[in-house]
Order: sequence, then structure tokens, then C-alpha cells
Amino acid sequence: MSAFGSSTQTVPESGDVPKHVAIIMDGNGRWARKRFLPRVAGHKQGVDTLRRVIKASIERGIEYLTVFAFSSENWRRPSEEVSFLMNLFVSALNEEVARLHKNGIRLKIVGDLSRFELPLRQLIEAGERTTAGNSRLTLTIAANYGGRWDILQACNRLARAHPEKCGEWSEGDLAPYLAMAHTPEPDLFIRTGGEERISNFMIWQLAYTELYFTDRLWPEFDAKTLDDAIASYQRRERRFGRTSAQLQADGSSLQPESPMQQSQDA
Ligand code: IPE
Ligand code: IPE
Ligand code: MG
Repeated sequence: MSAFGSSTQTVPESGDVPKHVAIIMDGNGRWARKRFLPRVAGHKQGVDTLRRVIKASIERGIEYLTVFAFSSENWRRPSEEVSFLMNLFVSALNEEVARLHKNGIRLKIVGDLSRFELPLRQLIEAGERTTAGNSRLTLTIAANYGGRWDILQACNRLARAHPEKCGEWSEGDLAPYLAMAHTPEPDLFIRTGGEERISNFMIWQLAYTELYFTDRLWPEFDAKTLDDAIASYQRRERRFGRTSAQLQADGSSLQPESPMQQSQDA
């Protein structure tokens, strides 16, 4: 079993501050083009933005921050841009892991890492190992990640581990094999850069996540934009399938309930 519940099986606890925020950091290329800079200058700036957003997330009491850095489809970009991004990943890990560790941050990288070159894979492994005992914030970077890849790799691993149960698997059986098994499902999803799509990000885990889209380009994203997203989140009524009247009768939408209690109350 995974340590975290599933929003489609039981109503999760949800508070004023989102416990888990997941972000598609989009708009780096357009940010650079607007300044007559090469696209990759936007990616470089994007790393600085991420550093600021990590700090702001800790200050706001967010416990899990997950960011989409490179999708399984981003290999389709010009090879120079892809290699720039790979080098940027290497240098960011080289420069930042010590700082993350000092700040009590646990680093996780999710995605199909087999396609990365050995030095990058070694840095990822070392970064995860160094920070494994930290608990102030879990920072997950999705790299060569795709939501469909995740579901399929989890199914394949489950099939190999439990062939005897094939055809009778439950959500609970699959959960520990998903790449995001170390986090609860995101409460708040943010996409910068104006596109309103999921682009194959965490398609399993976003089932009941509140979605927030902003035109702000990722290099321009800051604590204020994060606060706007959180304020929007706080105005939402998270019903998880229940009615508004049920939530009001409970006096609070914050009470977790088991499906059994729900049917008895109804
Ligand atoms: C997001 O910015 C970063 C990555 C996908 C690596 P983009 O590079 O997609 O920027 P736009 O969308 O072209 O502006
Ligand atoms: C999604 O951004 C992936 C990342 C931010 C890493 P893209 O810019 O690649 O998304 P699409 O292809 O425009 O949907
Ligand atoms: Mg983009």
C-alpha cells in the first residue's frame, strides 16, 4: 500500500494551505524571445525562478512541491535546446544540492531516467541520497517524465511483482508503483505561460486537484503570483463528489470522511 490515500477512494483532508503544489513551468522561450534573447536564456532564468519559488513555498508551509522540468515529449525540440537543458540540469544539480540539503529539503527526481547520460544519472542519485533524510519540503523534479509513461511503468512493475493477481488489481495495488508514491496527490496545480492543458503531467494524480492557469511566464513567476494561486485555491469548494449541502451540514469542507460514514450520513 502507498502511505497516502487516494482521492477517488476516500475523501482526503484538505486545509487552507495546499499541502502539495504541482507546477508546469511554462513560457521560458517566450520570455526570452520578448527580450530578443535566445530561448535558452529563458531556461536559465527559469532556474532562478524555481529557487525563489522553493523559498516562498517553505515560507507558506507547503510540504510538497513538484515541478515539470522536461517532458517525455520535449525530446522533439531542436537538439541544441535539448542539450542545453541537459547541461543546465547538470549544473543546477551541481550548484544547488548542498543548498537544498542545508535548507532541509528532500530532493526527488521522477521520470524515465534511463535516457539520461551517466554523469547526470549519478548526480541525480547522489542528490537524492544526500537529501533523503530531510522533511521540511519535498521537492520533486519531473524529468523525462510523462503521465502515461508513469501509469504504464507502474502497471508493468505490478504485473511482474504479482502475476498471480493479474486481472484483479485495485488502485491500492498500483499506488506504490507509481513514480509519485512518495507524495500525496497535489491539492493545487499551477500552469504558467497561458496554455490551458495538462501536457501529459501527472494525469493519474491530478484526478481531484484544483487547477490554476496564469498568463504569467515562468521566469516572471514570483511569491505574489504564488499567493494569487493560493488565494484562488482557498476560494474553491473541494467537494470530492459530494454536494455543497453535505459540506455545509458538516460545518466544514475540511473534515475527511470515509465512504462508509458518508453513506450513513446520507
Ligand atoms: C518551459 O518553457 C520549459 C520547458 C519545456 C523545458 P518553454 O520552453 O516551453 O517555453 P515556451 O512555451 O516556448 O515559451
Ligand atoms: C510542458 O511544457 C513541459 C514542461 C514544462 C517541462 P511544453 O511547453 O513542452 O508543453 P506543450 O508541448 O506546449 O503542451
Ligand atoms: Mg512551452
